Amino acid sequence: MKINENYSNLEQSYLFSTIAKKVKEFSENNPDKKIIRLGIGDVTLPLCKSVIDAMHKAVDEMGVQETFRGYGPEQGYKFVSSAVQGYYAKRGVSLELDEIFISDGAKSDLGNILDLFSKDNTVLVPDPVYPVYVDTNIMAGRKVVFADANGENEFLPMPDNNVKADLIYICSPNNPTGAVYNKEQLKKWVDYALSNNAVILFDAAYESFISDENLPRSIYEIEGAKNCAIEFCSLSKTAGFTGTRCGYTIVPAALGALNKYWLRRQTTKFNGVPYIIQRGAEAVFTEQGQKEIKENIAYYKENAKVISETLTRLGIWHVGGKHSPYIWLKCPNNMSSWDFFDYLLENAQVVGTPGAGFGKNGEGYFRLTSFGSKENTIEAMERFEKLFK
Ligand code: MLT
Repeated sequence: MKINENYSNLEQSYLFSTIAKKVKEFSENNPDKKIIRLGIGDVTLPLCKSVIDAMHKAVDEMGVQETFRGYGPEQGYKFVSSAVQGYYAKRGVSLELDEIFISDGAKSDLGNILDLFSKDNTVLVPDPVYPVYVDTNIMAGRKVVFADANGENEFLPMPDNNVKADLIYICSPNNPTGAVYNKEQLKKWVDYALSNNAVILFDAAYESFISDENLPRSIYEIEGAKNCAIEFCSLSKTAGFTGTRCGYTIVPAALGALNKYWLRRQTTKFNGVPYIIQRGAEAVFTEQGQKEIKENIAYYKENAKVISETLTRLGIWHVGGKHSPYIWLKCPNNMSSWDFFDYLLENAQVVGTPGAGFGKNGEGYFRLTSFGSKENTIEAMERFEKLFK
């Protein structure tokens, strides 16, 4: 046998696993210290009532002969795809049901979609960005080129016609910087993709955090996008499904074989999201569900405000938080990202995510999440005030 040697080209461990390991070690050596975790973007508020009620009902159905369900459609039950279809329609995007694929989340689909593309494709990835895009392509041995995101372009790199790419990743609102493309900017990416016969892999996982109605939440709000873009979204951050697992991927029929191949791939390698979870997901899209999740998002946004105001008071440069759950800051005293991570853990027991973990342009930066509890966020910021005043 021959092993997939591409794995040896990866960092030793996944960014968030490395962080978890470091924090575990610190906590074992300092059992009396209270650690505040603002690292991985994991939600803390419980699932909303509509979701819980729907899942309870579904549990009961599973215990009754007449309503019990076994294998479901791999691409998801129609009741969820219809709910997603209705959600898009509200923003003027019309989708066919067979363009919507329900899955266990954006991370898996972002990795799995690569089954559909030749190894010979060149991949364009913004830097910094969610590390899964790069890692999954390294695993497959694909060539990755980077689009630099930095202070000069407000962390929103634009297409460069001298760079030829076949697959383009866009994450807007961006993880980790929180930067959001406007419609004109996204149109430039769509035009670039169309003229290069490229496919955009658009990660919309943070769309529900966009506060400005004029900013696009879906790439399909841009003319021509259905001919060149696949969109990934998840209920993880939108509705607190990080542990519950449900998301959706849109593969437009206009992409021809890609739509058919994705169905083929999913039916072969995936058995669908559990019925109970899909009933919970359906509830997210009801009027009441939307009202409830918006309250949770507002709670996290309030945390982002607390973080941002504290950093402003301390004169620490930062962006984000307005249209995303992440605050992206410059490490004080020109510290490197990982030095700052260690410093903060040692001296304030606050965990964040080193910017360098998102790419070379993230070096010297640091990410804090607003997904903590209000109390912990306030306490973390009090510790910042003490440390950096
Ligand atoms: C993050 O912290 O960047 C995310 O939680 C990771 C993820 O969504 O997988």
